[in-house]
Amino acid sequence: MRTVQYVKYGPPSVLRIVEEPKPHAGPGEIRIAVRTSCVSPGEVRRRSGAMREALPTVFPVRTGYEAAGVVDEVGEGVTGTQVGDEVFGAAAITGYGSNADHVTLATWAPKPTAWTWEEAAGATGAVETSFRVLDRLAVAAGHTVLVHGAAGGTGSVAVQLTVARGATVIGTASGHNHDFLRSLGAEPTTYGPGLVERVHALAPSGVHAVFDCAGGVLPDLIAVVGDPARVVTVADITAATHGVHLSHTSPGTALGPPDPPATYGLAIAVELAEQGRLRIPVAGAFPLADVAAAHVLSEGGHARGKIVLLH
Ligand SMILES: NC(=O)c1ccc[n+]([C@@H]2O[C@H](COP(=O)([O-])OP(=O)(O)OC[C@H]3O[C@@H](n4cnc5c(N)ncnc54)[C@H](OP(=O)(O)O)[C@@H]3O)[C@@H](O)[C@H]2O)c1
Repeated sequence: MRTVQYVKYGPPSVLRIVEEPKPHAGPGEIRIAVRTSCVSPGEVRRRSGAMREALPTVFPVRTGYEAAGVVDEVGEGVTGTQVGDEVFGAAAITGYGSNADHVTLATWAPKPTAWTWEEAAGATGAVETSFRVLDRLAVAAGHTVLVHGAAGGTGSVAVQLTVARGATVIGTASGHNHDFLRSLGAEPTTYGPGLVERVHALAPSGVHAVFDCAGGVLPDLIAVVGDPARVVTVADITAATHGVHLSHTSPGTALGPPDPPATYGLAIAVELAEQGRLRIPVAGAFPLADVAAAHVLSEGGHARGKIVLLH
């Protein structure tokens, strides 16, 4: 089967398609024949070498975390999932390798009929991350929440899941993405100088919590809510110096202790999808062989939704 690998840090051109034997599902895992998989900004940064201090790496690295496809092997102890089922999910956080024709999944849920294969590929990380952060912030009906970086692969899902809780969402994005944010249920505003004033003008009664999907402006985000404990970032490694929680799930990194993954969110996301209340915006879909082009799109920093590979 085809896999995507790299043996040294560098630009997208270090990515190679390499033939390897199929993996086998271990206890508690399933293996899928991959229909679509995903490219995430975290692994794009890792490939560039920018994360070499934070994330120890053993080469070769097989890329890809999330995927969607058809179950073709079921590991010991798995119940409720059978060969032939259509699912979406993620490899073990320490395993990776979903940009391949077959991958073993540690976390999965049935693919909603309402989603295309492209949408299903990119759902797992954004859904899990959003539940992890929204639950830590105890976001509930009636709250007003700022989602910073709302048009990206994570933010666009965070907006919809916040709206689904009955909260009001203010989302930051460039002007050309404001109609997109409205379509997801958020009140848009631009990021950059004057952000605090613009958000206060949109929410005169106050903001309960901030979900930071972009990074770089934590002092402003703290000023929006008035308390660093009501800001959670998934994108800003300076969080601790501001008294803000950096939420992640990677063990053995320099990012601080990991949070427990909120994988319970997948089943809720499936229900919301079938009710037409959760779509997974797709910024671009590329044949597996064009994985380097997918990394280039991610590196541009302005993808509107998830970046998907077609197998
Ligand atoms: N710790 C975790 O568990 C975890 C989980 C998921 C993601 N992440 C991290 O969270 C970040 C976002 O992930 P993602 O998947 O959403 O990335 P993404 O899809 O690549 O994000 C692209 C979006 O970022 C927006 N953006 C660019 N510069 C911005 C700025 N200065 N301020 C606000 N928004 C800006 C763009 O909006 P415009 O085009 O409108 O400008 C674009 O829509 C990444 O750093 C990722 O690694 C962490």
